[in-house]
Amino acid sequence: MGFGRSASSVLVLGALRLASAALIKRVACPDGVHTATNAACCALFPILDDIQANLFDGGECGEEVHESLRLTFHDAIGFSPTKGGGGADGSIMIFEDIETAFHANLGVDEIIDAQKPFVVKHGITAGDFIQFAGAVGVSNCPGAPRLNFFLGRPNATAPSPDLLVPEPFDTVTSILDRFADAGFTPTEVIALLASHSVAAADHVDPTIPGTPFDSTPGQFDTQVFIEVQLRGTSFPGAGGNQGEVESPLAGEMRLQSDHTLARDSRTACIWQSFANNQARMQSAFKSAMLKLSVLGQDQSKMIDCSEVIPTPPPIGDTPHLPAGLNMNDIEQACATTPFPALTADPGPETSVAAVPPS
Ligand code: HEM
Repeated sequence: MGFGRSASSVLVLGALRLASAALIKRVACPDGVHTATNAACCALFPILDDIQANLFDGGECGEEVHESLRLTFHDAIGFSPTKGGGGADGSIMIFEDIETAFHANLGVDEIIDAQKPFVVKHGITAGDFIQFAGAVGVSNCPGAPRLNFFLGRPNATAPSPDLLVPEPFDTVTSILDRFADAGFTPTEVIALLASHSVAAADHVDPTIPGTPFDSTPGQFDTQVFIEVQLRGTSFPGAGGNQGEVESPLAGEMRLQSDHTLARDSRTACIWQSFANNQARMQSAFKSAMLKLSVLGQDQSKMIDCSEVIPTPPPIGDTPHLPAGLNMNDIEQACATTPFPALTADPGPETSVAAVPPS
């Protein structure tokens, strides 16, 4: 017997080539500029350009991006196998009057009202738009992973019930139970909280809107996992607000929920594992966000249009302690591994600037 190909192996090889050619075949979009693996994704390119220019102020990682990311969560987490709610279905926009009256949704009406005209103009469903805007918005933040986007959420037919969105004054047990009910592990919960790296509070202390949760709210970095582990020393405002505890830096807000999750034996080591590991945080956030973005949907019936999401810029800093602080300011909570050794930024202690409204 020689080593030449038999007729049948040639046939198999030919079939494989045809199949892979079909897999990578791209369609030309009607705009004459883009191509896509699925023609349905073509409709997203004009929406992408429109929201980058007119919702995200020319591709910034600013207030509207932060709010759009928060909205992906508040729409999707309205999902419970026992209590109802359709998950990532746009119900928060379609039934805005009902859902924005829920206490945990305080403030999301602003971004819903900013997003609505784009939904109307582009004829996309509310659920698809909310998750698309979140994924595009995050791509403007240096250090972020490139999030997935799946298309195909039908419009919600009912609002989500109240009390499904966690509050910053909830206990760790109640937060973990709520997320478990929606299908998330504790590791996924902490991974999702990487979102608080590009975040600020307007309503926890309404006298100081735009107060960030870490010193770098324009970067998707690990600073939130470091800074929440530092000993809290003061409030950025007058204090005494429900869901707020002391933070280590002037101008920085710390949520009670972030504080307790960073210190609870069930989650402290997970929290710490992200503190100086950008790659781990990125990949854990990316997969947990995909799960969140299709909550309540049948992903197998949706179209993967992830290729439309831009690649985020690289991270601009390395994990560090804020100037003026040292490792003694870290409140070690993980019982099995020490917090990673970090050095402080040079110079005197500084305060954190508010995220400006646009
Ligand atoms: C334990 C769960 C969570 C709690 C208790 C919580 C609570 C909060 C609170 C109280 C605020 C401040 C709102 C304001 O005063 O303006 C906030 C902001 C924010 N949250 Fe969460 N959150 C949680 C999980 C998440 C998740 C899973 C995401 C996204 C995947 C997310 C994304 C954001 C973002 C981006 C902001 C900033 C919004 C802005 O800057 O305008 N949060 N969160």
